[in-house]
Amino acid sequence: MVVHETLLSRLKDKTLVVEAAKVGGKWVRDVSDGARFDVFNPATGVVLASLPALSATDARCAVADAKHAQKAWAKRTGRDRSAVLKCWHQLWIENLDDLALILTCEQGKPLAEARGEVLYGASYLEWFAEEAKRIYGDIIPGHAENLRILVMKQPVGVVGAITPWNFPNAMIARKVAPALAVGCAMVAKPAAETPLSMLALAVLADRAGLPDGLFSVITARSGADFGKEMTSNPDVAKITFTGSTEVGRILMRQGADQIKKLGLELGGNAPFIVFDDADIDAAVDGAMAAKYRNAGQTCVCANRIYVQSVVYETFVEKFSARVASLRVGNGLESGVEIGPLINAGSVAKVREHIADAIDRGGKVIVGSEPSELGPLFVNPTVIRDATSDMKLSREETFGPLAPIFRFETVDEVIALANDTEFGLSGYFYARDMARIFKVAEALEVGMVGVNTGLISTEVAPFGGVKQSGLGREGSRYGADDYLEIKYVCLGGQAA
Ligand code: SIN
Repeated sequence: MVVHETLLSRLKDKTLVVEAAKVGGKWVRDVSDGARFDVFNPATGVVLASLPALSATDARCAVADAKHAQKAWAKRTGRDRSAVLKCWHQLWIENLDDLALILTCEQGKPLAEARGEVLYGASYLEWFAEEAKRIYGDIIPGHAENLRILVMKQPVGVVGAITPWNFPNAMIARKVAPALAVGCAMVAKPAAETPLSMLALAVLADRAGLPDGLFSVITARSGADFGKEMTSNPDVAKITFTGSTEVGRILMRQGADQIKKLGLELGGNAPFIVFDDADIDAAVDGAMAAKYRNAGQTCVCANRIYVQSVVYETFVEKFSARVASLRVGNGLESGVEIGPLINAGSVAKVREHIADAIDRGGKVIVGSEPSELGPLFVNPTVIRDATSDMKLSREETFGPLAPIFRFETVDEVIALANDTEFGLSGYFYARDMARIFKVAEALEVGMVGVNTGLISTEVAPFGGVKQSGLGREGSRYGADDYLEIKYVCLGGQAA
């Protein structure tokens, strides 16, 4: 047991930090070859915990248990499943402080944001616990007088899930909640950087009475073996993945032989557009939220800020003043708004985007100098006079860098915004109604924020178009991703 004092001493319930994986009904503390990996606090570099590094064989065992458990679970009524999920939700809320603390320690985001994420995650559980009772089918008038047509919805079966490090609580929540609600089982692999949050949720699931085998948590250093097992195991009906477009492509290729069903929430390159009729102060608020949530490490983060010429200088001045006032530090300290980035690779990418932008004529007006707080801290940075030839315009930065581009006309900015293979989210600020409809319809994305910089909620369908993914999470549409439609043609009926 190496669980670090900084974490342990502050927890109300110390049993929520486990150095074990959950395979079917068993907690696995060690693996036969002794392989383990450490979880670090990115703010301090201290080792928080050590976890067993499971293999594809362990994942296969979890799938076998899940297959067995799923059959019984699917037979239970929606009301029954709902009751278990509601109990889990209740425990999730009761343990808010501890779950947020674990999240901040392993991920780095400020404690207030971590609390927000835990509540955001819980909201998916509550939503889908309610939906469990409403998986309705349909009756379609037959195509002949003696025929009736029934449409029924059935759970897909066992689902493999791979989740990212940026939202260790909410990303598993919005996969496991709909899956369990409709009668599926899930074998999940958390990111190696942040497995403790998902394990804590699995402890709470046990306490809520979730039957063994329905939710396994496979801890591993890399996702490659797990991904291969999930895509090749015939007992896995579907894979749901949140992460990079590159890994999404690999899963698609690997799953091709079995025509594996896929839910993919992939990368983004969100445009954030400020038109000349916008409320500029509101646009600055929206840009701060859309850019700097989780230190810029969300796939719906504003990656490119486009401002119409007439209001460019005003926006740049107001926005950069706000960015300059952001407090950077260890997320456990009160008042901190920007935590560390997750690892050295993330820091290197932001630095590369800044250097490339400067080479191509961008001017740094806030930030850029190395932080004295530690190797994973990057000061929030604003670059003005950004242009389309810069790397930051084509690639997702995933860090606290805000480039501001200038544009002249509505058609020009729509073309610029859509000039990317990604299509997750987009934001714009405007007042004119005709303009609002035109731009909302023209943006090639799955989600649009109009006069708001925060669009994530359990009641709306989250997902992208183009190379940003497949399927939707959250809302009533989120349940459909875990259901098959079966149609029954009923003959011999009264003519
Ligand atoms: C993500 O970055 O993958 C999700 C962000 C969100 O749900 O808002």
